[in-house]
Amino acid sequence: MISNDTQRFAAIISHAKEYGFVFQSSEIYDGLSAVYDYGPWGSELKRNIRDHWWNAMTRMHDNIVGIDSAIFMHPTIWKASGHVDNFSDPMIDNKDSKKRYRVDHLIEGYADELKANGDEAGADAVIAQMDALLAASDYAGLKSLIDARSIRCSVSGTCNWTDVRQFNLMFSTQLGSVSEEANEIYLRPETAQGIFVNFLNVQKTARMKIPFGIAQVGKAFRNEIVARQFIFRMREFEQMEMQFFIRPGTQKEWYEYWKKERLDWHLSLGFPAENYRYHDHVKLAHYADAAVDIEYAFPIGWKEVEGIHSRTDFDLSSHQQFSGKKLQYFDNEINQNYVPYVIETSIGLDRMFLLTLSHAYAEESWTKEDGREDSRVVLRIPPKLAPIKLAILPLVKKDGLPEIARDIMKECREDFYCFYEEKDTIGKRYRRMDALGTPFCITIDHQSKEDNCVTIRYRDTMQQERIPIASVRELVRSQIR
Ligand code: GAP
Repeated sequence: MISNDTQRFAAIISHAKEYGFVFQSSEIYDGLSAVYDYGPWGSELKRNIRDHWWNAMTRMHDNIVGIDSAIFMHPTIWKASGHVDNFSDPMIDNKDSKKRYRVDHLIEGYADELKANGDEAGADAVIAQMDALLAASDYAGLKSLIDARSIRCSVSGTCNWTDVRQFNLMFSTQLGSVSEEANEIYLRPETAQGIFVNFLNVQKTARMKIPFGIAQVGKAFRNEIVARQFIFRMREFEQMEMQFFIRPGTQKEWYEYWKKERLDWHLSLGFPAENYRYHDHVKLAHYADAAVDIEYAFPIGWKEVEGIHSRTDFDLSSHQQFSGKKLQYFDNEINQNYVPYVIETSIGLDRMFLLTLSHAYAEESWTKEDGREDSRVVLRIPPKLAPIKLAILPLVKKDGLPEIARDIMKECREDFYCFYEEKDTIGKRYRRMDALGTPFCITIDHQSKEDNCVTIRYRDTMQQERIPIASVRELVRSQIR
């Protein structure tokens, strides 16, 4: 049984593998660091999160449409966006172990140790000092802080550090068949730029009027130096981003609007409010005039799951300058041409997946009526996100029960994901469905042939009741809307 957050996190990782949610990439070749594959139930869960976000953003807002832009883009885009010059993290290497650290992670780790030893005030002071130095891009100051505190490398145990240096996080590759003719291009580090460069295409073809948004879901790539903590920080991951184009001067009110709207989206899934908080950025990205993270209390601590950024007119203006093409909007309400301002919402799909597992994973044990102990591992995934919605379980493999079960399956499978299982005892099958997060199981028994009813079992309460076969589909549908 788990007793602390580290054990809980380890238990979630091993559960994710054992039950077909997430596998290490290239596992039979000893794996590829910070790259992961999603298994049968993981890919369903991921798709459900993606669809839920997509519908909430596009279908539920008259003024937001979606696009699906290419990962490969003209290399000048990354010059214009500032990523070639600015998309880097301050790093430091330990000369003895040759291990490279992100400076903020190194100092945060040190602060966590202070906290664990009861020195909360000391930890807060060191973080405040680090934040001020990061905000001022004072790398010599950061190095002095690391030296002054004698912060050690976890591998070598020494304080033998290099200077703090910046490392660009973009992956590059060659476009073209002959290497001499090839152009160096980048794998996109965010999906946002595909939206910016299509701003006018979308505005004109979808006849959008400001304020309006463009949403996109897709892969992004970053050569994260410190890539650990399972799918929290990956080198290949998926983002769900929305750029909301607005009239200049209205950015503060739209920023507040999207801050609230996005937190409400999380809470509407039933995730507890006390596990969320806002964290204002101290050091703003090169494009932002305000930025906040929505943080979640993961088993690895409070961490960012989503960012809301007020990006000003930085991106459109810059693309206008680099491309030589006008990226302006004529606002006929005020009779003015302008480059719109932008509020961005950006959430990592993989991080939302990890958040869902972190919330859902529970180990439970209890004493049964006959005095014996029982236990289970259950994933309390919100029903609308659950990979399998309904398990259909004939009590035995004979006497016409599988036929009834198959008929129910036929009726329901177009509406939601159903899973048919006739092997093992019913108790074992329930446990397996709990471990996969299936919110509803129905059992077809001999009585079903007489009364056209089945037993439905609810994952969270383990309560069971008899319901007519004719009502199964609607009952499940009503719970997953
Ligand atoms: N377009 C803005 C942007 O990309 P970001 O804060 O760098 O902003 C947005 O990233 C979100 O993408 C983060 O809140 C996080 O959920 C996710 N994300 C960023 N880097 C990630 C990584 N290496 N692995 C997994 N998710 C990541």
